[in-house]
Amino acid sequence: MRVLVIGSGAREHALALALSRDPSVVALACAPGNAGIAAVAELYGVDSADPAEVTALAQRWQADLVVIGPEVPLVAGVADAVRAAGIACFGPSAKAARIEGSKAFAKEIMAAAGVPTATSEIVDNPARLDAALGRFGPTYVVKDDGLAAGKGVVVTSDLAAARAHAMTLLDGGHPVLLESFLEGPEASLFCLVDGRTVVPLLPAQDFKRVGDGDSGPNTGGMGAYAPLPWASPDLVETIVKTIVQPVVNEMDAQGVPFSGLLYAGLALTPSGPQVIEFNCRFGDPETQAVLALLRSPLGVVLKAVATGDLASQPPLEWAPGSAVTVVVAAEGYPGRPRTGDVIAGSEAEGVLHAGTRRRDDGAVVSIGGRVLSVVGVGADLEEARQEAYRRVENLHLAGSHHRTDIALRASRGEVAVPVAR
Ligand code: AMP
Ligand code: GLY
Repeated sequence: MRVLVIGSGAREHALALALSRDPSVVALACAPGNAGIAAVAELYGVDSADPAEVTALAQRWQADLVVIGPEVPLVAGVADAVRAAGIACFGPSAKAARIEGSKAFAKEIMAAAGVPTATSEIVDNPARLDAALGRFGPTYVVKDDGLAAGKGVVVTSDLAAARAHAMTLLDGGHPVLLESFLEGPEASLFCLVDGRTVVPLLPAQDFKRVGDGDSGPNTGGMGAYAPLPWASPDLVETIVKTIVQPVVNEMDAQGVPFSGLLYAGLALTPSGPQVIEFNCRFGDPETQAVLALLRSPLGVVLKAVATGDLASQPPLEWAPGSAVTVVVAAEGYPGRPRTGDVIAGSEAEGVLHAGTRRRDDGAVVSIGGRVLSVVGVGADLEEARQEAYRRVENLHLAGSHHRTDIALRASRGEVAVPVAR
């Protein structure tokens, strides 16, 4: 089959690499792609959030399957348009993508499905803010009720900082979502969903804060690892049973069936897993670690999701061992990143590209905040970490930074779900 991937990040590079290993994928294209993806796929320029443009490209290129990576095109209805043209598409409808695009919609679905999550309140009037903050914190959790690329959230025990973030959002015309604070380690569980059937991938953990020891502001994600050596053997089953399947059933019952990748972002609290957020697509950077361990043919699997045929597929096969992703970010990220620097070593094995472009003179240069995702695989987390960091050492990007502690605590057995008091 001919597969067209939409997107330009390291997640899409990981998807493209895994698809290129599937013998049933005879041709692979990516739009708009990046300098790294060009090694495994034909690249086409496209406005990925424009339903008509993406559909026209899929028709022209005669795609048998379109795989949409990022949330923005999904929320904009690109999957609807591609399907309406009679082409199989991996990714939810715009209506179903609201599970990520509108935190209020996600909360309504969870409430109807009886799924555990933080209690929340939407504040759209500054006059009500102080009383509402008083009902929640400390610790305060202040969110933007919309797509914010992981950067719209402030978690703090400082009332003034919580208030300031909420006021910035309100001043920008964004309703504010306040939430109760969920205690416990975080986990990301990606599930393939074809409207009804749920097939979980390996659980992963993401590192959202920019600095070592979880210091500094939230980012889109600075690293990840999979699977979770500290999790109980029944964790994934529990999450599917108590969280993902009920949400999938509820969306189906409400006439907005979810088809694609449903990403549950969870806090593993003393009283069980609770939802922090849902995303309507593969997570970045967890996908880079998870897919490094996948042995099943990804094209076949994603096509089965797109055609509602997941229940008839054999169980997914995984390599033993662990995978670790370390994100190399440009100077300034998560603020305004410095761009245009030449990257040395970016064509090495295990190096996935995000914000990169090939210049006319052949040099690969940085064009975004998260520039590269470096993946290491090993028999255990410590080995995978060593492999990933050895690969990071062989790269050069002026001014870049990365966390040095991705998967470190887990590899030392220092992560655990807190016990109920
Ligand atoms: P989100 O964009 O909703 O995933 O939030 C970004 C990050 O903020 C999450 O990965 C968590 O680390 C943190 N966070 C969000 N909501 C909560 C909550 N209710 N309790 C604790 N931490 C949270
Ligand atoms: N890893 C966080 C996200 O993809 O939203």
